[in-house]
Amino acid sequence: MDPLPPFYDDLAAFRAEAWRRLAEGAETGRSPFHLPALATVDPQGRPRLRTVVLREADGAAGTLRFHCDARSDKARAIEAGSGAALHVYDAGAKLQVRIEGTARLHRDDAVAEAAWTGSRAMSRVCYGIAPAPGTPLAEGGAYAMPDEDPERRIGRENFCAVVVRATRLDLLYLDRRGHRRAVFSRDGEGWQGGWVAP
Ligand SMILES: Cc1cc2nc3c(=O)[nH]c(=O)nc-3n(C[C@H](O)[C@H](O)[C@H](O)COP(=O)(O)O)c2cc1C
Repeated sequence: MDPLPPFYDDLAAFRAEAWRRLAEGAETGRSPFHLPALATVDPQGRPRLRTVVLREADGAAGTLRFHCDARSDKARAIEAGSGAALHVYDAGAKLQVRIEGTARLHRDDAVAEAAWTGSRAMSRVCYGIAPAPGTPLAEGGAYAMPDEDPERRIGRENFCAVVVRATRLDLLYLDRRGHRRAVFSRDGEGWQGGWVAP
């Protein structure tokens, strides 16, 4: 039988493991942590869910970043004050991470500019799509994407970076010898948490 992981009965190590996997996921395309599901609530109070690419996870700050089109429903929801929840399950690691927090849209500030500059050309052009995301089309292909842009500005006006400040973490590790689940909340600059029944 496999040895138990070092975080199995260690709360601080369990939380650190979640952030380590998230940070790795932001860097590594093949990690399941690269593509979390993001939930928001629309103006009618209905839950909305979709995949996003995780661009950064900062365990020390307790923040995560993804990018989206400012014309999209998710951007509108966040602008209107929706909180955000992220979910990922890594079947190899047998680890589910659920994150809840506040979300902030960055369009014109240094966070947005750094995120734009750090994005690949093929990602940037997606923000120049016309008409806007979610617009009904007469045919499936009745939209236009700009060609790659040497000036690197096409789509910039529609680009935004979203930073989620985590306020609650719910971690679940599956093991035949007994699952482990822990819940953490922000406590000032740190975190407070404990084991809960899985
Ligand atoms: C693998 C994958 C990665 C995606 N990454 C992003 C992303 O990083 N940002 C984004 O806004 N949409 C991303 N999408 C598209 C969204 O899941 C969603 O379909 C789209 O953004 C519209 O969502 P909304 O109407 O809720 O705003 C991705 C979809 C897939 C399948």
